Amino acid sequence: MTIETMTFAAYIVASLLFILSLAGLSKHESAKSGLTYGMVGMAIALAATITMMVKDLDHLEFAGASFNKWLPIGLLIGAIVIGAAIGFWRAKVVEMTGMPELIALLHSFVGFAAVLIGWNGAITGVHASPGDADYGALVGIHAAEVAIGIFIGAVTLTGSIVANLKLSAKMKSAPLMLPGKNVINVGSLVAFVVLTGVYVARDVKDDTVGYVLLGVITALALFLGWHLVASIGGGDMPVVISMLNSYSGWAAAASGFLLGNDLLIVTGALVGSSGAYLSYIMCKAMNRSFISVIAGGFGIEAPASDDTDYGEHREIQADAAAELLAGAKSVVITPGYGMAVAQAQYPVADLTAKLRAKGIEVRFGIHPVAGRLPGHMNVLLAEAKLPYDIVMELEEINDDFAETDVVLVIGANDTVNPAAAEDPSSPIAGMPVLEVWNAKDVIVFKRSMAAGYAGVQNPLFFRENTQMLFGDAKDRVEDIIAAL
Ligand code: TAP
Repeated sequence: MTIETMTFAAYIVASLLFILSLAGLSKHESAKSGLTYGMVGMAIALAATITMMVKDLDHLEFAGASFNKWLPIGLLIGAIVIGAAIGFWRAKVVEMTGMPELIALLHSFVGFAAVLIGWNGAITGVHASPGDADYGALVGIHAAEVAIGIFIGAVTLTGSIVANLKLSAKMKSAPLMLPGKNVINVGSLVAFVVLTGVYVARDVKDDTVGYVLLGVITALALFLGWHLVASIGGGDMPVVISMLNSYSGWAAAASGFLLGNDLLIVTGALVGSSGAYLSYIMCKAMNRSFISVIAGGFGIEAPASDDTDYGEHREIQADAAAELLAGAKSVVITPGYGMAVAQAQYPVADLTAKLRAKGIEVRFGIHPVAGRLPGHMNVLLAEAKLPYDIVMELEEINDDFAETDVVLVIGANDTVNPAAAEDPSSPIAGMPVLEVWNAKDVIVFKRSMAAGYAGVQNPLFFRENTQMLFGDAKDRVEDIIAAL
């Protein structure tokens, strides 16, 4: 068997393992084995690619001169070792709450790689000679691959950097509202199509024009990526992350075409389509228009400045909260990002056990985008060993709040904001929320009156039946346990 056949076989095995990995990751029980399939697939893919590369080095010349083949091998090994060490270190130290911003940063690397591969493709040119029968067509296809690869890669690069900055609060999460933002987005796309057409049709003999055109396409795409994501408001960021995931897949697939690497095409298409589908289901769950979110908030108006007088809020102390809980028959806990920050899931589990021991019914209401990544709250509650059967999804619990005595809102804000249901002018209008305000009493655990991730005020805090319990969520839950 030749090395080419073995590589081809290894690529098929790796592709199958990636498909199994995606299938495994779609369920809690099989997620771990899904990860293992993915890692084994990636190891096989890397080994096969490196073997291929080392073999090809025997025939390689650069600018007519032969060179020492150990140089590229050394560079490759150096890059793998440094990259793997940094990746291993970051993944080990990252907090669960910092995961989405790390993922956004990793997407930007995929985009950057696609831009470099595109430029490399432009410089090395097509692997065909002018004497070949279909030379003209091959040159055209190659040029289109270069331009499309660079465009998708550059959009992914800057879009992911903006997403990282927004998620890590280094940039405001409110949407950027440049005048005529939709015209800017559509105009950039049209300009890209026209420039690509000119680039494909250009005369390749003197390629100065080609490099200038590619430079303009790269700059345009870098701008568009930045503008698309900057225009999307905080509340829609989860969708953006999975959309960027999808773009990074398409960028990898485009690089696969350029490098003639089938595995990269298959893997890129898998990531691209699964990311797009995830964004679509997230949009459905949040009642958002898929097209408007991916088009940089197309048709979403700037939020009117909020000078509404919501009145006074009321405060409660831990011992009074404990008394209220002790007298309740049914309690629902709705956790959010603040529970993750405070690492309050362990005392919350203790509190749940204490209340259940007193015969009080305790359940959890989980919003699909509570926290900062899909399933964030479920992971925390599972970590604290809370039984699955008392953890309910939004649709399962929303009608039960009217019969609930006490709701504990632990570090959640946007996901329990009545403005989403009641105020059509709110930036989060239409997003389904946990209707906690229908309960008899609501206790909100947070440190201040600050707004949530989407940056909008929450009228829940000023309702008659709501009381604020200020302080770190973990400390306050422990205080309640002590008082009980
Ligand atoms: P948020 O609206 O983010 O509000 C969290 C609240 O927790 C804040 O108001 C904060 O108030 C409080 N908090 C922070 N640290 C705390 C601590 N140590 N102790 C007590 N409270 C603390 O939370 P949410 O309701 O979970 O909503 C999630 C938001 O994130 C949505 O807008 C969603 O679109 C967005 N998002 C979600 C995802 C995914 S996929 N889940 C990804 C990206 C963005 P104080 O500062 O006053 O304490």
